[in-house]
Amino acid sequence: MTSETSKPEPKRLFIKTYGCQMNVYDSERMRDVLRPLGYQPVDTADNADLVVLNTCHIREKATEKVYSELGQIKKMKQASGGKMTIAVAGCVAQAEGAEIMRRQPAVDLVLGPQAYHKLPEMVARASRAAGERLETEFETLEKFDALPKTREADGPTAFLSVQEGCDKFCTFCVVPYTRGAELSRPVDDIVMEARNLAAQGVREVTLLGQNVNAWHGAAPKLEGGSEWGLSQLSRHIAKIGGIDRIRYSTSHPRDMDADLIAAHGDTPEMMPFMHLPVQSGSDRILKAMNRGHTAEHYLDIMRQLKEAQPDIALASDFIVGFPGESDQDFEDTMNLVREVGYAIAYSFKYSPRPGTPAADMFGHVPDEVATERLHRLQALLWEQQRAFNASKVGQTIKVLVTGKGREAGQMHGRSPWQQAVHFDAPEHVMGDIVDVKVVGATQNALAGEFAAVAEVA
Ligand code: SAH
Ligand code: SF4
Ligand code: F3S
Repeated sequence: MTSETSKPEPKRLFIKTYGCQMNVYDSERMRDVLRPLGYQPVDTADNADLVVLNTCHIREKATEKVYSELGQIKKMKQASGGKMTIAVAGCVAQAEGAEIMRRQPAVDLVLGPQAYHKLPEMVARASRAAGERLETEFETLEKFDALPKTREADGPTAFLSVQEGCDKFCTFCVVPYTRGAELSRPVDDIVMEARNLAAQGVREVTLLGQNVNAWHGAAPKLEGGSEWGLSQLSRHIAKIGGIDRIRYSTSHPRDMDADLIAAHGDTPEMMPFMHLPVQSGSDRILKAMNRGHTAEHYLDIMRQLKEAQPDIALASDFIVGFPGESDQDFEDTMNLVREVGYAIAYSFKYSPRPGTPAADMFGHVPDEVATERLHRLQALLWEQQRAFNASKVGQTIKVLVTGKGREAGQMHGRSPWQQAVHFDAPEHVMGDIVDVKVVGATQNALAGEFAAVAEVA
């Protein structure tokens, strides 16, 4: 029983999130788990009682950012007379463990992505300066079981983690080491979380996983009790009252199946957006990356997706300068991009990660060469992105209103294809799905004129 008098003193919690959407989701869950202890989120680290850096280890730059941020926060801790508790969470915590506290002694706690449910206990111990300060065991299901069953929704869109970890071991990637083995959450848990979000007004859920389309689970008994994949899970979530839009991220070409492609055609709630990283258009490089698919297999999936949902927006990730990448390999990537035509894509220079097989491969690509390739690839991808956005001008589209714009009277929202859309509209349309006529497009956003609150999603 909680009464007014037994409520804990409010404490200030600052969480900074780096990296992927999985970390964004985890940061929300850390807020949930700390709320009963009286921690209220604040926007800056100054004067915070607890600072959590939820870190990313994917590229060297991402990791280095964390250490420079820690240097700044250390100064704030000193200014507070040492009252601030500093926790490092996420993938750098998992990969580097106690090394972090050696490199930056101001850090009080280090906890990996599977240990967030232990955060309250660890924070309490740290304040008594006793007990474990490092928690990097892999116990993914325990984490999900132990986190609070209800979440506080923040607006009409929400992430929902359905799968964690990765067994693919692409030779460049740290994720299998920082997030552990692939693990799917059970259907009932996911559905309960989705219902809870819907009850709070969430209309769009993005199902998250490092290999989200590898999700699988036993179907609910009422539904026949067989094994389900992401397609059946998505159709099931689509039936929850209030949920009008479903997205999922990120998928792997090896786990694409015919039914998931079909779901894009037969389930209106399935948003016309597919993020399917390919990394390279060269079969030789794909093999050295241990991706387990060829360029042709990938192109075939993309063609099938376009057939199932003709307006689908296609997205991908690319790495240039992987060891041994020749000019011809790079041209193969450019050709693949031309053939697919992307709505959006993320491209990176290869960054060697300690402990991964590619870090020891021969054929280092000089930085100038990799930089030049990255610039050429990005020029092509951005041209495609601008063309995709421009193709929507003149159309009336359905926009989920997610917030107020910067200027008075302005609102913003998200198109079915994931672009940000800005338009003038009354504030009360917040959270509605509205008809907006697109009148302008830039590389990153659409400008529109509000037409009406839409009848259907
Ligand atoms: N699970 C997702 C993405 C994981 S990381 C997938 O399998 O597609 C996000 C992206 O970071 C990757 O798709 C890849 O393009 C990039 N990336 C991962 N490791 C990298 C490295 N060592 N150097 C450069 N980019 C990398
Ligand atoms: Fe990394 Fe490959 Fe797993 Fe994606 S599939 S998380 S790139 S190892
Ligand atoms: Fe980064 Fe970890 Fe995500 S390394 S990309 S935060 S899974």
